[in-house]
Amino acid sequence: MVDLAQFHNNGDHLDLQWSDGRLDRVFAVWLRDNSPSPQARHPNGQKLFDITDLAPRVALADVQNVNGALHIRFAPDGHEANFGLEWLRERAAPVDLHAHRRLWGAELARAMPAHGYETVCTDSAAKCRWLADLRDLGFTLVTGVPTEPGTLIEVAEQFGFVRETNYGRFFEVRSDPKPINLANTGLGLSCHTDNPYRDPVPGLQLLHCLVSENDGGNSVVVDGYKAASLLLDQYPADFALLTRHAVPFQFNSAGTALEARARLITLDDRGAVTEVRFNNRSISTFDLPAEVMPDFYRAYRRFAEILQRPELEVTFKAGPGDLFIVDNQRVLHGRKTVGGSGRRHLQGCYADKDSLLSTLRVLERELI
Ligand code: FE2
Repeated sequence: MVDLAQFHNNGDHLDLQWSDGRLDRVFAVWLRDNSPSPQARHPNGQKLFDITDLAPRVALADVQNVNGALHIRFAPDGHEANFGLEWLRERAAPVDLHAHRRLWGAELARAMPAHGYETVCTDSAAKCRWLADLRDLGFTLVTGVPTEPGTLIEVAEQFGFVRETNYGRFFEVRSDPKPINLANTGLGLSCHTDNPYRDPVPGLQLLHCLVSENDGGNSVVVDGYKAASLLLDQYPADFALLTRHAVPFQFNSAGTALEARARLITLDDRGAVTEVRFNNRSISTFDLPAEVMPDFYRAYRRFAEILQRPELEVTFKAGPGDLFIVDNQRVLHGRKTVGGSGRRHLQGCYADKDSLLSTLRVLERELI
């Protein structure tokens, strides 16, 4: 734990100097808003007041360093609270929201993030490593999953909840003589994210191989964040176009008419990529202003070319009992042409990322 070397009360803000030299500035209103006092917080951690209950101008009437905590008396309401130094150190500066993120290319094939199903079900440290890989890489392989149909639901329930769609709780991927979706043919599928025509888009996809007697049909995954970082480095103007303009996606079948508008690359408020949405089969007719259209097509094509670079592709043959999970807002998946007449049968389902991250945080809290 880093100590607080000194602090200076400036009335409406406090300057903190830590023993490692770091300087932080925290504001009186921010401190008052985050008061841990029982008058301000329920024991469950939830806040007991509204922002409008605070004075328009909050000030620091008195600040004392007492036994490893700052004791603060606020003005004008006289509220008092103790702020632990560890809490202040952790929150006084913005944290890197994506510190865990690891970008990858084809080299990941040499160190596949594979986890045994039996082990992750019985060993919470192993489950924690599995879910951390999924958070950090956006892709993991689970091996040894029983090939009983529907078992993928149990895999999803190891960390969260299945997201049911018009395709059901889970869906079959096998050759179909009258497919409503090209997934159910023997054709190769270029890399894509699933269901871009939904709002919100499914955060995770699970694909479980039950039967694989055919030739080919190798699975391919590509890190969309890595591709987006290459686009930014090599063609920044194109990156800017794809992050600024949204395009329509759609899917139609007898009883379904799904539509969503989204950017191919979405950024968060700090400029980090938080979603790649890319699907050649269900992207719809662009409705961009005329002055943007030609440049947008150039950017779209360049991004697609980067996504197809062999050095970004991780190719693997999923055998019976293999189940892979992708972060559907990051990692694109596809398959090579399915050859021969042997049977190939996979089952897929969707799940949301918030439950995954919650389960992971709880495990980390328990294990650390
Ligand atoms: Fe897909």
